[in-house]
Amino acid sequence: MRFLVKKRLLLLALVFSTMLACACGNNHKASNLTVDKERIIIGFSQVGAESDWRYANTNSMKEALSLSNGYELIFDDGQQKQSNQITAIRKFIQQEVDYIVLAPVTESGWDTVLQEAKDANIPVILVDRMVDVKDDSLFTCWVGSDFELEAKKVTAWLKQYCDNEEINPEEVHIVNIQGNIGASAQIGRTKGIEDACKEYGWDLVDEVCGDFTQAKGREVMKEFLKQYDNINVVYCENDNEAFGAIEAIEDAGIKVGSDIKNGEIMVLSFDGVNKTALEYVKEGKISCIGECNPDHGPRVRSIIDTLHMGGKPEKLQYVNESLFVSGSNITSLIVDGQVYPITEITDEE
Ligand code: AHR
Repeated sequence: MRFLVKKRLLLLALVFSTMLACACGNNHKASNLTVDKERIIIGFSQVGAESDWRYANTNSMKEALSLSNGYELIFDDGQQKQSNQITAIRKFIQQEVDYIVLAPVTESGWDTVLQEAKDANIPVILVDRMVDVKDDSLFTCWVGSDFELEAKKVTAWLKQYCDNEEINPEEVHIVNIQGNIGASAQIGRTKGIEDACKEYGWDLVDEVCGDFTQAKGREVMKEFLKQYDNINVVYCENDNEAFGAIEAIEDAGIKVGSDIKNGEIMVLSFDGVNKTALEYVKEGKISCIGECNPDHGPRVRSIIDTLHMGGKPEKLQYVNESLFVSGSNITSLIVDGQVYPITEITDEE
């Protein structure tokens, strides 16, 4: 029944789009409405455009789920607001898309709208961040990063660095510029640094949200430097915050770098998507970046293809990630008994 109604709607949309294209000659607008009955229609609710990682992720999704690949992607930018994302999902349900892909801004608050999608028989694929729902049948599967593991690797690197340089734990004074509160990336990365500070005896001076943006990262770091005079490590929960923090540190006349014994402030970060961030690693401005891989488009596409052919994709799909460093003579790390490789950024990169 749902199938029949949907086909009728698609036919109507096709007729309407053709009329519109003839009437106004605007191919770009009209092409959004042109629906091929054979195409797989996907509604994608993206968090926003807060970071370079996010741009890369959006591009990856758009490229993989393109018209030429046989998909129609209805893209919605949630502008970092959960209410916008909920509205987008409700629209996708009304439009009777074949699949909903959701990159949730925060983990909580999704039960009701995901139940609506389930009632409408539309599979929901989560990408990047996770949701915290009572019933995990409300989503079909998830693909993304292990954010806590990323943090464990970065903090294991810092521990190894301090051991090599004979820096005592009580001499390590860390501020944390957090991502937007309640996002999986913030939850995992904040837990990682808090646990490490407890375990290794480092001083966690303060933690404030930097929204994953450069502007907020700069603002937060500027305030930290006004309030505390002992900071020697800034742990930024993404590279855009790190860019802002570096600006604030340099504006204050302090050098960024790993030589914390001689007054430098060490910058640690996550993502490694932007070329400048990797350039900064090479220059020593960022000491270590925990990789966060944004290329989920092909992964989501393969999940959709599996579902479309009646298959059952794995419920939780973690991506493999590395650590980007330069010249610290640390070549691998052991976290939870497992050895992880490190990517040395050199001139050939
Ligand atoms: O959820 C992934 C995180 O979100 C990335 O680390 C960050 O840059 C983005 O905004």
